[in-house]
Amino acid sequence: MKIINWIDARFPLTPFIKHELTEYKTPANLNYWWNFGSLAGFILMLQIITGLFLAMHYKADTNMAFDSVEYIMREVNFGWLIRYLHSTGAAAFFAILYIHILRGLYYGSYRKPREMLWWSGIALLFLVMGAAFMGYLLPWGQMSFWGAQVITNLFGVIPFIGDDLVLLLRGDFAVGDATLTRFFALHYLIPFLIVGLVVIHLVTLHWVKSTNPSGHSLQRESDAVPFHPYYTVKDLFGLMVFLLVFLSFVFFSPGSFIEADNYIPANPLQTPAHIVPEWYFLPFYAILRAIPNLELGVVAMVASILILAFMPYLDRSRIPGGGTNRPIYRLMFLAFLIDIVVLTYVGKKPPEGMLVPIGQVATLVYFGFFAAMPFVSKWEERWLLSKSVPGPVQENLDKPITLGKR
Ligand code: HEM
Repeated sequence: MKIINWIDARFPLTPFIKHELTEYKTPANLNYWWNFGSLAGFILMLQIITGLFLAMHYKADTNMAFDSVEYIMREVNFGWLIRYLHSTGAAAFFAILYIHILRGLYYGSYRKPREMLWWSGIALLFLVMGAAFMGYLLPWGQMSFWGAQVITNLFGVIPFIGDDLVLLLRGDFAVGDATLTRFFALHYLIPFLIVGLVVIHLVTLHWVKSTNPSGHSLQRESDAVPFHPYYTVKDLFGLMVFLLVFLSFVFFSPGSFIEADNYIPANPLQTPAHIVPEWYFLPFYAILRAIPNLELGVVAMVASILILAFMPYLDRSRIPGGGTNRPIYRLMFLAFLIDIVVLTYVGKKPPEGMLVPIGQVATLVYFGFFAAMPFVSKWEERWLLSKSVPGPVQENLDKPITLGKR
């Protein structure tokens, strides 16, 4: 095409698309768990676009915020759809991200040389959490208000600067109009920071290349396929299946992801009987409450995410493919998954009766997974080698997992 030739003479458009997309070499054996990265990218775009249209009608003012959301629902053309896509999209974003992270954990995607890729992902997770927390205040319902009250309070435990930090976050001595306007400004800003970080995430990915379910080095030309059409089609198929599930919620059960109390306008004089965060924060909330001391609880809650960053060093096994080739790790991973479900349940319920010790044990199991990793992984490696696992495992132990020549 003439126009493309004109651009190519001035800007490397076609070479870039060929190198990074159409002809980009990808392992031939990626399974469906590798779809979740592109799904995360899709939902990020959806959140930005629907958010933009919501912002055209939303009023960041405590006297008008709640009503402006109702106005969007009732009066704006397709306002209900835009809002439900955005609120359900937030929940879907976390579901996708958690699967994306768990896939990485299971297959050992954090291992050398992918440490920086893994860390850029953790930074992304923190940013997405920040954006979701700030967005939740905007409808100015009861749960918005009291959730922000509880979470901003937590920053008060930081030594020396805690009180000043809470004041800075709230913009006032209590959650109020100043908090709402600054949360709105930041909620609008953070997604663009996320986009920037996703670009870094993908540049890092294309430098170190994807790993694969077997974890073996893919050195032969036949081990890799061009991204297009193989993975463009597979990603599109994944997107269709995802949309089927996602749109079923948007059209038939959009209230599933909005707390009933949030249909009541915020009232600073009336605390709801039970303040719960959204489902995606529940495991961390359970860890916070499992520890009777607030300061230590906050430390444990932050540590429960940060500890992921140490996985490249905690996992000392050199058996490729993570859970695929490591039976003991597979069991540990299963226990970890069940533990997260238990923590989610405990986080949802009031901390009473047996749920208190169950939450504490589940917290111990959560951190136990990481604490046991160095020992179990080394021991498991020795055990597997002593059982003389077939050749390729041993041959690959010291080779970095790369995809042919760069
Ligand atoms: C906005 C959020 C994110 C987006 C848009 C995103 C996007 C992607 C994409 C498109 C891929 C390639 C396809 C795939 O392997 O699934 C990928 C790979 C990867 N991502 Fe993410 N990601 C995000 C967050 C995260 C998080 C939170 C983590 C971990 C804490 C993470 C860790 C990784 C790793 C380790 C890989 C390489 C996987 C492998 O080759 O085995 N990402 N990401």
